[in-house]
Order: sequence, then structure tokens, then C-alpha cells
Amino acid sequence: MRINNKNEDSRIDLPKDTTPLILEGDVLECLKKIPDNSISVVVTSPPYWNLRDYEVEGQIGQEKTIEEYIKKMVDVGNEIKRVLRDDGCYFLNIGDSYYNGNLQMIPSRVAYEMQTNGWRLRNFIVWYKPNHMPSPIQNRFATTWEPIFFFIKNETYKKYYFNLDEIRVKHKTKEEKGSNLPETLSIEEFNKLKDKLNLKVEPSNGKNYEGKFKDTKRINLGASPGARSVVCGEYYSLQRKHKIDDDLKFEIIVYLRDKRVEKGISTKEIDEHFRYKDTAGHWFRTDYSGSSLPKPDDWVKLKELLDLDERYDKIMTEQHYVLQTVRPHPNGKNPGDMWKMKTAKLKDAHFAVFPEELPQRVIKACCPKDGIVLDPFAGSGTTGKVARELGRKSILIEINPGYIKIIKERCKLNTKPLTSWS
Ligand SMILES: C[S@@+](CC[C@H](N)C(=O)[O-])C[C@H]1O[C@@H](n2cnc3c(N)ncnc32)[C@H](O)[C@@H]1O
Repeated sequence: MRINNKNEDSRIDLPKDTTPLILEGDVLECLKKIPDNSISVVVTSPPYWNLRDYEVEGQIGQEKTIEEYIKKMVDVGNEIKRVLRDDGCYFLNIGDSYYNGNLQMIPSRVAYEMQTNGWRLRNFIVWYKPNHMPSPIQNRFATTWEPIFFFIKNETYKKYYFNLDEIRVKHKTKEEKGSNLPETLSIEEFNKLKDKLNLKVEPSNGKNYEGKFKDTKRINLGASPGARSVVCGEYYSLQRKHKIDDDLKFEIIVYLRDKRVEKGISTKEIDEHFRYKDTAGHWFRTDYSGSSLPKPDDWVKLKELLDLDERYDKIMTEQHYVLQTVRPHPNGKNPGDMWKMKTAKLKDAHFAVFPEELPQRVIKACCPKDGIVLDPFAGSGTTGKVARELGRKSILIEINPGYIKIIKERCKLNTKPLTSWS
């Protein structure tokens, strides 16, 4: 592979096929060689602060202070921002350190600094390691997980590439798969089946409605699935049987208003009669947002009060039970932000390497078929190996010549890396 020219500002040619392009040298120096807006996804794990000596001059992680380390990670982040496409994503796995028995919160501090430097944090993923090392620690809990931060560029919110369908996890439980309950049940049918099938019901009594996102009580009927207490599963709610479209709603309200005027009763008096407060007024309003129809029970009472005829009785009072399913996606669920993945070991690498499923998940979700993956702290090259297997192009940066050998073996490469150009 050829470098365009040795000039400070020169950029490399991007890879044309899935053979990982290896850049050997310091991360910042190598990043500077990558053209603007060229990378779809970055997934990487830099050395953690004060943990392991990678035995090479210029390595990250050996800084005297945490502040210096954080600054370096932000500098790397800034350069990544330049090379990342506007629809690109950056996954940063970073571990913490204890200093004088005090957990330093380094990952969170790095993430926070990144946020103040033009990055938007989309997820704080917990990478739980079920095979974590047995710990000799006697006076605190063993560390069993590490953070993975998922960033996007601040200015390109909502435009980034994320293909959830590529990484869905198959449903396991019966509840997740969904049952075969009937879509609707009459009140009689429901009562017959209720105990037999242990059916749940959300009361659809408007008086109990407490508003969207206000709390997560079972009665929180109008809320989104996320705000309901029944987050996944099925239950029935009592609803109007007949659909009332806007035209019909308007017609009923005009009818009610005429009858009220005819009777000479104010909305305040109606409220008092029903022992409501500021409710009846909405039944007589013809503006779209301020109007609402009386509930079935209220209709019966209102009919008596205003001498209504029977023309709207059926549509205003008949109810049935409707199956409410927070339906799981047929192809599986969102993997969520707790990733249970065993750490991997490699014979020749004296550091923790990514389990292959980690870059796999990231690449499948965030790298389009023709995109380029970048790992700026490549180590043994797991990211490049996985990218190649998934048919994606990749660029790997690594400072330690000893590891370049491992990368080439793992990625089945016989090309020479681009070496340091300083
Ligand atoms: C934790 S390892 C990455 C392991 C990798 N995820 C894998 O699966 O093999 C971190 C790597 O960053 C490299 N590194 C340290 N300082 C660097 C620097 N300044 N520039 C480029 N690479 C550096 C180290 O040599 C090491 O291989």
C-alpha cells in the first residue's frame, strides 16, 4: 500500500477491498493520515490508565495524571470526529482504575469530556464478563463489567446509521413470543375467561387516567408501553366498541350543545351534578383539542339530565375488551445495553482481546455494507478480522510492531503495514 506523499497533510488511499489496512504508529499520527468523513464506525479499546505496560514508546495509558490521560482520549476523539462520516458511530470500551483504594471513575470522566467536545452519548453499555477473573479482593465486590460508550457526532443527531434488524436477539420465553388470545372479547366473554386464563385488565375508566409518563401505575392507561407497568406481555382493556371519527364526534357535540342550551343548564351546573371539576365543559366544545366525549357511564346520566333521545346510545355506551399487546418484534428483540460476553484470550497477546461477538454486534448494527470500520488501538486485530468476515473494509492502527505480526496472522494478511511516516 502506497502513501500519497510524505507531506504532513497527506492522506492515505482508503482500502478498496476487505483486506484490513494496517497503519503502524502512534494513534494521533496515523489518524491524521485518514481522509475526512471516510469512516462508518469506530470500535476500539485503548489501554486503560496506569494498568498495563505495552512496552513501546508513545503508548497511551502511562500518563502521570488521569487528567493527562483524559485529555489524550479527547484529542483522539477529536481526530476520530474528523474522519468519521456524519452518519457514523464511535464505540469506546474503556476500563476504570483504583488509586489509593479509590475508584477513579475514569470512563465516566472521559465520556463527560467527550460530551463537552461535540459528541452525543447514545448508550452507556455494560459489558458484563461472565468469565471474569476470580478476585482475591476481600473487602469490596469484584469488578465484573466494563463500560462501552456509544457516541455519535453532536450535530448529526438522528441521521446516524443504525440497523437494529441486523442484531436482534431471538425471543426465548412464551411471553416474549406472544400468545394466541383473541383480539377482542365481549364483556360476558371476558368475565367467563378472566379467571380461567388469569387475564389481566387495565381499567379504561377515564377518571383513573393519570396522564402520559406521569407514573407507572397499572392505571396509567394512555402512556406509552415504556411507561406502563405491563411492559411486555398481554392484557385487556375495556374500550368503546364503536369507532367515533372526528365528523361523528363533532356531530354529537353539536347535538349535546343544542340540548344543553335548550335546557338552559350551564356546564358548571352539569359539573356540580356529576361532582366533577372542569370536565363537562369539554363535552360541549367544538374545537378539536379542547373537546372530549362523555364516558359511557356519564352518557347515561347526561341522557337523563338533558333529555337526550336514543340516536347515539349504542355508539356512546357499548364497550368491549380489546387485547393490548406490547408485541415483540417477530425477528427478535433489541439486545439492550447489557452485553453479556465472555472475554477472550489469545496465545501471543498479553492483553485482553475483544470477544469477536463485540465488534461483530457493533459492525452489523452501525456499518453499512460498503462502509469502513476503524480500530485505532487494534492490538491483535480482532476488529479487522471480524470486519473482513462480515465483508466490511477496515483500517487498523497499532503502535507496537510485535502486535502487527499477530494482526497479520489473524487477518490472514501478507501485505506490509503502512509504517510510521514521521
Ligand atoms: C487493549 S489493547 C486492544 C486490544 C484489541 N481490542 C484486541 O482485540 O486485540 C490496546 C492496544 O493499544 C495499543 N496502543 C497503545 N498506545 C498506542 C498509541 N499511542 N497508538 C496506537 N496504539 C497504541 C497497544 O499497543 C495495544 O495493542
